Amino acid sequence: MAHRVGILGGDGIGPEVIAEGLKVIAAAGVELDTVNYDLGGARYLNDGTVLPDDVLEEWRDLDAIYLGAVGTPGVPPGVIERGLLLKMRFALDLYINQRPFVSPDHGVDMMVIRENTEGTYAGEGGFLRQGTAHEIATQGSVNTRMGVERCVRHAFELAATTERKHLTLVHKTNVLTFSGDLWQRTFDIVAAEFPQVETAYNHVDAACIYFVQSPEQYDVIVTDNLFGDILTDLGGAVSGGIGFAASANLNPDRTGPSMFEPVHGSAPDIAGTGVANPTAAIISGAMMLRHLGETDAADRITAAAHQLGSTQGGTVAVGDAIAAAVA
Ligand code: IPM
Ligand code: MN
Repeated sequence: MAHRVGILGGDGIGPEVIAEGLKVIAAAGVELDTVNYDLGGARYLNDGTVLPDDVLEEWRDLDAIYLGAVGTPGVPPGVIERGLLLKMRFALDLYINQRPFVSPDHGVDMMVIRENTEGTYAGEGGFLRQGTAHEIATQGSVNTRMGVERCVRHAFELAATTERKHLTLVHKTNVLTFSGDLWQRTFDIVAAEFPQVETAYNHVDAACIYFVQSPEQYDVIVTDNLFGDILTDLGGAVSGGIGFAASANLNPDRTGPSMFEPVHGSAPDIAGTGVANPTAAIISGAMMLRHLGETDAADRITAAAHQLGSTQGGTVAVGDAIAAAVA
């Protein structure tokens, strides 16, 4: 039976890269039963809609969600990010954000596991005396033992399956002595269940140096939400560019659909010009197929995307080249 997938092209280059992803999936012989959702910054500017509750309820019955990018100039910061993307991650309990970086040319072959429902993203905090000279703004970092443990355990389970079986915790335990301590203790406790996995720890600032200077030291990395956000943009930059950076927002317990999206944004500056690289969206599509059990198609698409993602000629040319290779 065809997999039922919600399609959220979104804004800017989002719909352009998702169209190529769908083309490649079809060429690989996988049938999807798609439902389109017109959501994002443009829709918000049009009629004020961000993410209605009934749409969210509808999504619970999908097998997966395939998302391009959301964000449009003119929308105040946070409206779409918090109201759509983060609401989706939190409500569907997509607690793992898995971001692979593979570039033999750059010596990179690593997977970043980013906690996706807590930390500074949780929305804890607020204003006091807003707009006055005595204004106070706080933005706390929420770290639950349950949330950290399920993320760390997922990372160990993944690391146990790789060739190197190596897992690095990235945090800032020397300064964030409360949240960092919880992460480190939880990591150490779970590590005892995985004696076959070799472990390491890096402070996040040092990890930025290693990402640039010696990325080959990494296999699997686990880190919190904000560190993971920043590190994965850097990961893209050091492994062939953000145009190759794919991601899976996973609900590993499969109590609902998982969501697949490129790491990059809507790039309004190049929208409509046909130059956006669809490779990140195409690899994200392959991650979706893997999650749906379509392992063979996922393998073929991933291999072709790595090989042909730098094809000249623009968005459609790259999509066509990869589609032809997997057909
Ligand atoms: C990402 C993005 C999002 C994030 C934004 C758009 C809310 O940067 O997926 O990395 O910060 O998680
Ligand atoms: Mn980001």
